[in-house]
Amino acid sequence: MLEQALRMQGLTSAIFSQVDDMRKAELARGRDVITLSIGSPDMAPAPHIVQALMDGAADLNSYGYTLSKGLTEFLNAVALWYEQKFGVELDPTREIHSLIGSQEGLAHISLCLVNPGDVVLIPDPGYPIYSAGPLMAGAHLYYMPLTPEQGFLPDLEAIPESILKKTKIMILNYPNNPLAAVAPIEFFRKVVEYAKRYSFTVCHDFAYSDLVFDDYKPASFLSIPGAKDVAIEFNSLSKTYNMAGCRVGYVIGNSKVIELLGRLKSNFDYGIFNPLQRAAIAALTGPQQCVTDTAKQYQRRRDIIVNGLNAMGWCVDKPKASMYVWAPVPTQQSSVEFAVDLLKNTGVAVIPGVAFGQFGEGFVRFALVQPEERLEEAVKRIKQWLG
Ligand SMILES: Cc1ncc(COP(=O)(O)O)c(C=O)c1O
Repeated sequence: MLEQALRMQGLTSAIFSQVDDMRKAELARGRDVITLSIGSPDMAPAPHIVQALMDGAADLNSYGYTLSKGLTEFLNAVALWYEQKFGVELDPTREIHSLIGSQEGLAHISLCLVNPGDVVLIPDPGYPIYSAGPLMAGAHLYYMPLTPEQGFLPDLEAIPESILKKTKIMILNYPNNPLAAVAPIEFFRKVVEYAKRYSFTVCHDFAYSDLVFDDYKPASFLSIPGAKDVAIEFNSLSKTYNMAGCRVGYVIGNSKVIELLGRLKSNFDYGIFNPLQRAAIAALTGPQQCVTDTAKQYQRRRDIIVNGLNAMGWCVDKPKASMYVWAPVPTQQSSVEFAVDLLKNTGVAVIPGVAFGQFGEGFVRFALVQPEERLEEAVKRIKQWLG
């Protein structure tokens, strides 16, 4: 009988699979399901990005192994993009490394920095890889509740000193999935102070750096003075350039941490397919109107859902960024019960908040990954059902 390794026991995807199975069952029954559950972008990359990918694929020199670190032109393109966009200066040779996607870097970083029993501070609710990577490294997971009362920021003072002394990594993510929350710069400054005082590395996931609305401008964690001493930041082209299916990501920041991750990765694997890096270079160095257009599209979708729900008395906040709406469950049910009822009665699929951690209970997440008319239809059906 096959026995799974002990470290696999902590890895589950129970709630996500349960919701997805139900969604598929509804589809199989011929139901017109509006899928707002999985956060996979429905838009396509801009034509100049696709062209670079096709040119690369047609070049027969593209098919050898590539180096894990990334093409020099790719690393230079990331450096230039970060400087122009976020005012962060980076040395492409020491402070940037390519990744298959930011998720891959988040999965591996704990193996570089954590010994069994060391603590990793994880946001709850949070993106599931934040727990899975540290679990594989044998870390002790300490969950930092993100609640509306705290502005969806971790309460640093509430973390016991005994935990902070054993902490090797703090994971943060703003703009946030699933909360769609953003963080003020003062909070980032305080985190840098803590990281220096307790000698841990901050891993900031900045995957939604460009899905920002109205006039909101997020800060890169590395723009905080002193951050490079203690932090790395993960980013990717998946959301900014609609390249989730041809993932290219990267990590930037503290050169010692980047060296460790690079060493681990070069032992585990090779680099990203050359044409994908060419497409990424075209994306980062080409016209940026496509990024503005994508963000505007999500903003219109956000308005349809938020205004629609508020108009029927379901009070939800209007997020400044991300591609999600985090809505309190409007009934007395648990988030799973409500999501199941919503799917069965309206055909609208959302994710119950508890799938992201215990502090996600009481909420559901709408992913804004359908065209405007489908979202209007979703609002109409929800209104008819909730009355
Ligand atoms: C918060 C967050 N981080 C990382 C990722 C994964 O991004 P990538 O495609 O770069 O691996 C996602 C994907 O949804 C995400 O929501």
